[in-house]
Formats: sequence, structure tokens, C-alpha cells
Amino acid sequence: MSQHYRANGGSAAVIRDELDVAAYLTVRLPATFAAAAAALGEAAALLPNYAPASLLDIGAGPGPASWAGIATWPAIGAVTMVDANPHFLRAARTLAEASSSPALRRAAFVQANISDGMGRLPRAELVIAAYALAELAEREAVEAATAAWDRCDGVLLIVEPGTSEGFRRIRSPATLCYAAALMWWRRARMSWRVRSLRRIGVTSRSGSPAHAII
Ligand SMILES: C[S@@+](CC[C@H](N)C(=O)[O-])C[C@H]1O[C@@H](n2cnc3c(N)ncnc32)[C@H](O)[C@@H]1O
Repeated sequence: MSQHYRANGGSAAVIRDELDVAAYLTVRLPATFAAAAAALGEAAALLPNYAPASLLDIGAGPGPASWAGIATWPAIGAVTMVDANPHFLRAARTLAEASSSPALRRAAFVQANISDGMGRLPRAELVIAAYALAELAEREAVEAATAAWDRCDGVLLIVEPGTSEGFRRIRSPATLCYAAALMWWRRARMSWRVRSLRRIGVTSRSGSPAHAII
């Protein structure tokens, strides 16, 4: 499974039943949770007054980015996890129901292909796509990032593997969304979001996961 992901393979080929999900929980999830938590920590440091009330987790898998989101901002009250893979989504629901977080226990789970559009998904003040856009063709990833930005009323966080390919893949959607953010900023009234946009950055350190905070 790790070899498959390192070779930029998608989840559909390796997550085909509950046993595969169990392997992902054991082998991959601790690292993807840690990566999302680290990137969210940077977002929290960049935006000390930001306190999202809602979270949309795109390509949620079993849900680690949502857990990290709740751990960073416990005031998040509404969580929606979206994924195409029913096995992952079932695990996400089971684990969320067992959580001590009320927001996770009442989370919504949507089985959907994000390449088909996100217009029906709820808007959220925090939108996360963690290790998800890399599973799409490059053009689809840009469209998905744009659609994710359209659903976003605050911060969009994109996390990808900390490889040359991961960072190359993240730049394109991130640059595009950054341009969209600037266009929006020119039109918007002064608000905390506008002030925050001045501090937006696309960040990556060698050896750490590539991520963009938009
Ligand atoms: C490597 S997993 C990452 C899961 C989780 N975000 C994490 O950080 O551990 C990638 C996820 O993206 C989902 N995914 C890939 N393509 C998708 C698509 N077109 N629509 C919805 N979900 C998709 C997969 O089913 C999988 O759950």
C-alpha cells in the first residue's frame, strides 16, 4: 500500500474492503493525521483571530483531517466529510460515532465524486483537501481546488505528500486559488477575512508535507 501511494497511485486500487481500510488506518493514517495537524497548526499561528464554526473535508478518507481540524479549533460545530470510496466513508462514520467530539458524532457523510462538482456540498469556514487532489488528473485537481475555494468562507487548506511531485502538484491549484482569493479581496468589504488575506502564504519545507493555506 505504501509503495502504491509513493508511486502516486490512487486509493481506489488499494482500498477495496474493510481489511484494506484497516491497513490504511495502521500504516498511512498516523502520518496523514500528523501532516494535517501540522499544517493546521501553521494556519492557526498565521490567523490568531480565526475561529471556524464549520468544516468541509474533501477526500476525507477515514477522517483524520477532520479530527485534526477539531483538535485545532474545538469550536467547530458542523463537519461534513466527502469521499468517493464507500469503505473509507463507512470507517469515517464508525470512528466519528465513537469520538468524544460532539461535532464529529453528528458529522455528515457524503459519498460523491468531487470531479463531478461540489455545488451540492455545504459551504464551510474551513475547507480541507488532504492527500486527495493528488489522486485526480492534473486538470481535475485544479478544477477541484477551484470548486473547493467556491465552497469556502474562510480558509482552504490543501495538503499533499512532501515530495517534489507533491509540491509540484500543489503549486498549480494553490496558485489558482490564490489568484481567485485576490480577485475576491478586491471586491470584498473590509472584514477579518480581507485583513487575513494579506498574510496568506503557500508554504512548504523540504522533508515536510507540501501544503497550501489559502
Ligand atoms: C490518500 S486518501 C487521503 C484520505 C485522508 N484525507 C487522509 O488524509 O488520510 C485520498 C482520498 O481521496 C479520495 N478520493 C480520490 N479521488 C476522489 C474523487 N474523485 N472524489 C471523492 N473522493 C476522492 C479517496 O477515496 C481517498 O479517501
